[in-house]
Amino acid sequence: MPDSALLEYHRRSKHWLDRYAPGPGRLDWANQPAPFRVYEGAAAIKLSLAADALPTRYAALRRGELPARQAFDVRSVAVLFELSLGLSAWKSFGGNRWALRCNPSSGNLHPTEGYLLCPNLPELPAGVYHYVSRDHTLERRAALDHPRWSAAFENGGVVLGLGSIYWREAWKYGMRAWRYCQHDCGHAIAALCYAAAALGWETHLLASAGDELVSALLGLDREADLGGAEPEAPDTLLWVGQEGARPQLEHMREQLRDAIWSGRANHLSAEHVPWRDIDSIHGATRKPATLEPAVYRPAPLPPPRDPVHDPTFATISRQRRSAVDFDGKTHIGEESFFAMLDALMVRANTPPWNALATPPQVHAALMVHRVTGLEPGLYLFLREPSVLAAFRSSMRQDWLWRKEGPEHLPLYLLLPYDLRTIAKTICCHQDIAADSCFALGMLANVELAREEPWRYRHLFWECGMLGHALYLEAEAAGVRATGIGCYFDDEMHKLLGIEDDRWQSLYHFTVGRPIEDKRLVTLPPYSFRP
Ligand SMILES: Cc1cc2nc3c(=O)[nH]c(=O)nc-3n(C[C@H](O)[C@H](O)[C@H](O)COP(=O)(O)O)c2cc1C
Repeated sequence: MPDSALLEYHRRSKHWLDRYAPGPGRLDWANQPAPFRVYEGAAAIKLSLAADALPTRYAALRRGELPARQAFDVRSVAVLFELSLGLSAWKSFGGNRWALRCNPSSGNLHPTEGYLLCPNLPELPAGVYHYVSRDHTLERRAALDHPRWSAAFENGGVVLGLGSIYWREAWKYGMRAWRYCQHDCGHAIAALCYAAAALGWETHLLASAGDELVSALLGLDREADLGGAEPEAPDTLLWVGQEGARPQLEHMREQLRDAIWSGRANHLSAEHVPWRDIDSIHGATRKPATLEPAVYRPAPLPPPRDPVHDPTFATISRQRRSAVDFDGKTHIGEESFFAMLDALMVRANTPPWNALATPPQVHAALMVHRVTGLEPGLYLFLREPSVLAAFRSSMRQDWLWRKEGPEHLPLYLLLPYDLRTIAKTICCHQDIAADSCFALGMLANVELAREEPWRYRHLFWECGMLGHALYLEAEAAGVRATGIGCYFDDEMHKLLGIEDDRWQSLYHFTVGRPIEDKRLVTLPPYSFRP
């Protein structure tokens, strides 16, 4: 079994039918975290809003057809952020307004912060930048003008960094918040990877970097710049550029020792509640420097069937929303359903999976309610066919295991049954799990974290990436999705007849025909930009 602190956190952060994981009990509105982090005093570069001119189609990206590589300059970098971590709209109701972003977040609390490390680029001087989605600006945290800094990037790529302010989520969700921060990080990784692909760039998770290096490169270890503001945990670095090239991260760290840093982090809340369980899992899953993993080469697959709609990537990334309600009657066709699942299979050079060097480690147990041509029931979808035997030995012995769908899709019917009531119950009694076309739980083998506990974080990230692909797939299929972080973990395991602790459900999702909330007014994303 994995590390005991990890196991303890995993168990204690589960929701149970008769009690929820420890949370704050009530919402302390006076201390609601400010939604945007800024580094006061850092010079801000205002980015252009140029994404509308990007012609790349979403359908081409999911087939692995990337356009010709754009040059790295301030304009293309602006598009990268606009379509990944940028705002997608403002909503207003009853005198309140709040921003939505291209990347989703549990409770719309957005713990994930984005960074750019770049060499000298046209109209963007070399440095470390923090992205402010509210204003679509890059704050220059560190200025670097030594040629050795720029040389460390090799072949004209850039490095992106992600960090998480746990407090943002913990304010509302208590100890389970750490899980949501990891999901959100996975969504952000996928969002960046898709947007990079739309500009013709490859993305690669720099999995060998340890947390200490990530912190140093993003300036997260600079206590003086925090001045008591909420700390940010290092998540990961991504290389964006040309296939095969890699940045020299240690050289960058050396250069940063002499760099001039500017900016002080704003305080998000006046008071905080400590969550010792979050400190404990953070410590238990700290990542040391590791060797670059061997690159996983997926078996070739036929291209996925095209979705019903063919929007540009710019349209679909900003159109993405979470459904808050479904109509409870729409059926999608089985071809649409299979096409969505097919887009979750790993294909070479295809976003967001091209960011990962590891084989797929997250699979899905589906509760199908309304898919024309498919019996309602419980299905298992394996993103890597070789795990079939491991699943069969861990689950109820009398499942049907009837192969469904296209030949290359590892999809199995376990039990024909109307699961609407149980889906709703499992997902913390939320109607969205029953009124949709299908809901699912993402299953990962937590044993993978036994020797290397940091892999637990990566499992959640992969869940977030899968969720992000599903959000975009749902939009392209003319329906809508919602991520579900609130579910009764062991009720899902009971449904599947899983008796050991190996396969754990780490994230849930639901897809169907949304009902819009007509009371909300929608405003363009940058209508309040200074
Ligand atoms: C990790 C995660 C967990 C979520 N859990 C739920 C949930 O349990 N129920 C729900 O209605 N929405 C859930 N959501 C949807 C968020 O509320 C939504 O992303 C957020 O309000 C922002 O809205 P948007 O996705 O339309 O941008 C979740 C989203 C994420 C990323």
